[in-house]
Amino acid sequence: MNSAIYFTLILILPLYLILTRKTSQKLPPGSLGLPVVGQTLSFLHALHTNRIEKWFQDRIRKYGQISKLSIFGTPTVFLHGQAANKFVYTCDGNILGNQQPSSIRRICGEKNITELSGDDHKRVRGVLASFLKPEVLKQYVVKMDEEIRKHLQMHWHGKEKVVDMMDGIVSIPINFPFTRFNHGLKARAKIKAMIMDLIYEKKAALKQQTAFPQQDFITCLLSTQSKSNLIVISDEEIVDNTIIIMIAGHDTSSVFLTFLVRLLASDPSVCASVVQEQEEIAKSKAPGELLTWDDLAKMKYTWRVALETLRMTPPLLGTFRKAVRDFEYEGYIIPKGWQVMSVACMTHMDEQIFPEPSKFDPTRFEKQAAAAPFSFVAFGGGPRMCPENEFARIETLVTVHYLVTQFTWKLCSTGSSFSRDPMPVFKEGLPIEIKPKTCVATAN
Ligand code: HEM
Repeated sequence: MNSAIYFTLILILPLYLILTRKTSQKLPPGSLGLPVVGQTLSFLHALHTNRIEKWFQDRIRKYGQISKLSIFGTPTVFLHGQAANKFVYTCDGNILGNQQPSSIRRICGEKNITELSGDDHKRVRGVLASFLKPEVLKQYVVKMDEEIRKHLQMHWHGKEKVVDMMDGIVSIPINFPFTRFNHGLKARAKIKAMIMDLIYEKKAALKQQTAFPQQDFITCLLSTQSKSNLIVISDEEIVDNTIIIMIAGHDTSSVFLTFLVRLLASDPSVCASVVQEQEEIAKSKAPGELLTWDDLAKMKYTWRVALETLRMTPPLLGTFRKAVRDFEYEGYIIPKGWQVMSVACMTHMDEQIFPEPSKFDPTRFEKQAAAAPFSFVAFGGGPRMCPENEFARIETLVTVHYLVTQFTWKLCSTGSSFSRDPMPVFKEGLPIEIKPKTCVATAN
């Protein structure tokens, strides 16, 4: 093990020296720390002990809105502020390319959308968009309604306690047995084989015309191939993008819903207003009638509560990009190959943008349009903004509707102790004690 670490250092050190050899006067302030390790351990420690906001604040206090450091084996520039968010999210692909930390890249695959740039990114994003057209999204309300009711029937009704759990993928990318990274790679291999089987199955169903394009994600992507007889998206791209959709879609939403459940349990007045809004909608429906797109449009207060939850605890801290060439920003040189990191949680808690940022106040989203662009970036911004934010809105509102109309719940713990992995996660899950409500207009 020791000799393997030694050889890894020998291999990475020259690359590190090449990347860091630029004229140091023009580089942003800060230190790159020890070769390879840099500030990775203290960054991960701050994430795992839920002190990352303070870690960022200390950095901003010490160096200002731009500073250098080294994480995940790569020299990195940390940028803070609404203007920095705008710059990072909208920057031309010739200056900043998209690149996730290498652990994410290796586990999700090199052809996943978050790794692509330029025409490749536009092509794959266009294919994914075919699954998210407004007319298709409207159909999902009914589908999600059925799935969510089924889920609550199986996992909530008849139970007294519910626990939510998550596992993470940001790790030091050293592939030795027993490392988290190694477990992640093994999981990827298994999932890849399963998705390949599904691709063969669904290709056959499409050929025999026993499947229709919008029935599921993989069939939808395969249909874009068969319609034009051109390979718009390869099987390999389908595999990597199915994995990223599962991770990007599942983990963000489940973390977000867990925090909403916590909020509703701990803020009785917000909860009462959400319940009132949802029960009015429930009363307007016949027993068993499914929710519709128009019902979701009436859930305005609930969505503001959701947005305020996202502001205070964004599932994604921010984003990573990579300098495609040397460029100047705010008078500093950012060298080619360096990572650029911007963090959403810091503008979300900036009192110049969101007065009294620690106060939970959903009404601030009544006038969201007035907030400076790129200050609320829970879904990112620019051409890489979360393509599924509308999908996330549907699943959130439908879930909250059935939760608050069918159950009441209380937290089994204070719910205050969570870490970031890299998404916020409660160490013991978030156990809650649930009680079914007796009179529910839309149940069953
Ligand atoms: C509350 C839920 C969600 C949040 C907070 C969220 C947040 C984000 C953010 C911040 C980005 C931009 C990252 C960047 O610029 O580097 C992003 C991108 C993305 N999200 Fe979401 N997301 C959510 C739900 C979903 C769902 C449900 C899916 C899929 C079903 C999804 C799929 C994606 C994909 C594929 C991208 C990459 C887009 C690109 O690179 O062009 N997200 N998301």
